[in-house]
Amino acid sequence: MIIDPHSLEVSTVYKLMSNTIFPRPIAWIATEGEIGVNLAPFSYFIPVSSEPPCVMVSIGPSEEGGLKDTAKNILLYGKATISLADDRKARLIDATAKALPYGENEADTFGISMAKVIKEYPPRVADAKAALLCSLHQEVSLNGSEQIILFLKIDAFYYSDEVIDERHNVKLDNIGRVGRDYLVDAKRMKV
Ligand SMILES: Cc1cc2nc3c(=O)[nH]c(=O)nc-3n(C[C@H](O)[C@H](O)[C@H](O)COP(=O)(O)O)c2cc1C
Repeated sequence: MIIDPHSLEVSTVYKLMSNTIFPRPIAWIATEGEIGVNLAPFSYFIPVSSEPPCVMVSIGPSEEGGLKDTAKNILLYGKATISLADDRKARLIDATAKALPYGENEADTFGISMAKVIKEYPPRVADAKAALLCSLHQEVSLNGSEQIILFLKIDAFYYSDEVIDERHNVKLDNIGRVGRDYLVDAKRMKV
């Protein structure tokens, strides 16, 4: 079967893409705005460069058509902290995808503890085992799209001591995304 995406609703194209291109990592992104911390998940998220160390996050328009709070805060203040979470956080990750009014704090609303790593950066999810402290490197507009593509430079890696050794081997059980479901317990295979 060959499918022409132009013949489909955008939601169907999303369905095909998100059930085909997986597992996708989930960036649980904290940003700071005038009114406090904002926390939301993003799975159009991928590492793109090690020099400079950069990740890409693609953010669509909000339900009302403007910028999502995460995009607004990153474009205004230039900083984001990406927490990597395991499957115990699936329900909370999902809850923080709910669109709250700007300035309404998802962490407080859903009882998620946050912790500062470096003062100048938004906090990480307190019990996430790893986080990336990032600054905005580049914004790119995608031709013919309302998506905002942000390249975020990793200024610091945070690890909980038990998940990293002295040779920089990292052991995490990150949750992934497939379609609208979550992918857990991905097994590793050495070849
Ligand atoms: C697991 C998961 C992944 C998501 N990935 C994206 C994404 O890559 N891009 C996007 O624009 N929205 C994505 N969303 C939806 C946003 O999290 C949602 O629009 C959220 O309300 C944005 O919050 P904000 O307005 O506080 O930034 C995702 C939702 C979930 C549950």
